[in-house]
Amino acid sequence: EKGTYPHYMLKEIDEQPAVLRKIIQAYQNEDGELHVDRETLDAINGADRIYIIAAGTSYHAGLVGKEYFEKFAGVPTEVHISSEFGYHMPLLSDKPLFVFISQSGETADSRQVLVRIKELGHPSLTVTNVAGSTLSRESDHTVLLHAGPEIAVASTKAYTAQIAVLGILAALASEAKGKTIGFDLIQELGIAANAAQTMVDRKEEMEGLSFDFLELSRNAFFIGRGLDYHVSLEGALKLKEISYIQAEGFAGGELKHGTIALIEEGTPVFALATQEAVSPNIRGNVKEVGARGAKSCIISMEGIQEEGDRIVIPAVHPMLAPLVSVIPLQLISYYAALHRGCDVDKPRNLAKSVTVE
Ligand code: F6R
Repeated sequence: EKGTYPHYMLKEIDEQPAVLRKIIQAYQNEDGELHVDRETLDAINGADRIYIIAAGTSYHAGLVGKEYFEKFAGVPTEVHISSEFGYHMPLLSDKPLFVFISQSGETADSRQVLVRIKELGHPSLTVTNVAGSTLSRESDHTVLLHAGPEIAVASTKAYTAQIAVLGILAALASEAKGKTIGFDLIQELGIAANAAQTMVDRKEEMEGLSFDFLELSRNAFFIGRGLDYHVSLEGALKLKEISYIQAEGFAGGELKHGTIALIEEGTPVFALATQEAVSPNIRGNVKEVGARGAKSCIISMEGIQEEGDRIVIPAVHPMLAPLVSVIPLQLISYYAALHRGCDVDKPRNLAKSVTVE
């Protein structure tokens, strides 16, 4: 029920802080420590390499998840688009673990991969929002997102839930290997939930920015580096699927290898700069596109912000920045679609769960 909300999408964007808190609770034991069932943890620890399989927004969450598995737990991780993997299986390691990420648990492209890897006898884990979904029933292990039903076709709260749950799994894998991730994940997720609340409360400002940057645009670009690059892909997907504005997300360093040719007077560029190490580089990219007439909206973080940044998210642990920096992008897309009179919750040509290959 969407209650007083005009659209499910807006309601689901708003639910993100609560979903993060729910996840923190769901994966804590009575001693207040992170916890997941033994078999799932053993499956992760038994792998010499993780293969994340997903589509669309879930694939974008998987890209962030890869960083967690590699940085927290030291497990080499690959992320694959299900439809590609289904037809071009790469060379596999000796002890692979397949991690399927799917809000619905019904995506046909992902199911096809599961069928194939089961035939080969490999273990599987599904991270899904829907208990009892096909992927959940057919894989060896399931980890739930606890995001509550996601009705809008454009995925929002499932994305942030996927990232949080993957972070928890990676931190647990790290602990099981006797390592430390170097910070208190429960505490930092709590801080991220508060920061997410701050961002969902800034709707009016995001509506204004959406109007300023996108009202007259046929296209838009999203750039970032490192984790911010992954978020830029998701920002572009959100915008194109609901507002039909042609949008592209890419790594800032790739601009000069082609895309900069598309920059004209007034072209909107959303530049994510939440990662201190690469923030100077992305700011350099903003200058390059600015010199060619682009109108840039920098999304940075408290502590590393600079004058003129249009959106500054509250300070969170840099590894968790995607949980917060995606929210302004979701809201900007929502308002762009709304201003254009688009059917926000049911964009043309799209279905909530894609059950055909
Ligand atoms: C984007 C979107 C799609 C889905 C994709 C995978 O907003 O909703 O890109 O993310 O179809 O769906 P699931 O996660 O259900 O497998």
